[in-house]
Amino acid sequence: MALPPAIEQPNVYPLSWHAHTAKLEEVWDAAQREYWDPKKLDWASFDVSRYSWEEREAIAYWWTILSVFDASAPPVFAAALIKTYEAHEEDPVRRCFFSVTRDEQNHEQVCGLAITKLLEHADPLTYVPKTEIGRKAQRNAQWLYYNGARYWAGYKNAVPKYSLAVLFSSFLMGEIAAATIFHQMAAKCTEPVFKEAFRNIGRDEGRHMAICMQLMERDYPKMDLSDKPLITKQIRAGYLFLSGVLFEPPEDFWDIPADFVAFQREIEAVARKAGFHIPEYEAKKENWRSAMLNLKGVLDKYGIAFPAIPEVGITGQEVSDADMVDIIPVF
Ligand SMILES: [Fe+2]
Ligand SMILES: [Fe+2]
Repeated sequence: MALPPAIEQPNVYPLSWHAHTAKLEEVWDAAQREYWDPKKLDWASFDVSRYSWEEREAIAYWWTILSVFDASAPPVFAAALIKTYEAHEEDPVRRCFFSVTRDEQNHEQVCGLAITKLLEHADPLTYVPKTEIGRKAQRNAQWLYYNGARYWAGYKNAVPKYSLAVLFSSFLMGEIAAATIFHQMAAKCTEPVFKEAFRNIGRDEGRHMAICMQLMERDYPKMDLSDKPLITKQIRAGYLFLSGVLFEPPEDFWDIPADFVAFQREIEAVARKAGFHIPEYEAKKENWRSAMLNLKGVLDKYGIAFPAIPEVGITGQEVSDADMVDIIPVF
């Protein structure tokens, strides 16, 4: 009855199906029930010919900004899913991360379907713009994409370095941001297929938030104290990174040309006039501020210092060295 030698850890797969966190089982059941297929949304009702080329390019630009975040989400969560296996996480945690990965793939598909329909081309970077607005949109899209690539390099570097506990707060930050934006977009959007998509995506993001909250509730009371300052720093970096989609990309963090924001404002005004509701500057700022205060409320409970976010009027701990090289926040 000789046994094999001890297995070196982390061994990628647990041979066990322990379940301790009942709430996560409920989230998984909801994910199964609420699963939806982007292809089955009512795309037939979306008549692009009702819009001018300027409007189409402007609306496609918003979807392009979104996809810079959403198209990175499937690989980001796939990496986190692998980490839950390496950490031999309980079975419902593994399934919840699997559901997030699957949902994010759906969100990416929606970006692709919207852009392809609007531009009659499946790629906003190689598309040949038809108007000056389209040319400005494409120039900005190139810069967003360039910065997104920098983010992925940072993420890959960060994932093995940090515990799942640190990762969860960064994920929660992304999920709060996502839930905020989709709620806003769904509320005032006039195009039925987009409205339906935003509603479904927003519901998914709500579940993702619940997963992060449950895990924080489970792990944070016994958290390693040295992880706390790391979380504060990650939240500041997350604010800067996600401002690219929720607010305006700050130049000290995002590598973008000086006229980037002016171009973006001009493009957004065209989309807005066409009935595609993108919040105005002040509304974006207020929404982003309340999302941050929401997150602050969660972190306060666990005695984790919140970073100062003077951009939206939140005081807190000064973080000066937030850098793209090792940020985790995801969308
Ligand atoms: Fe998403
Ligand atoms: Fe999400």
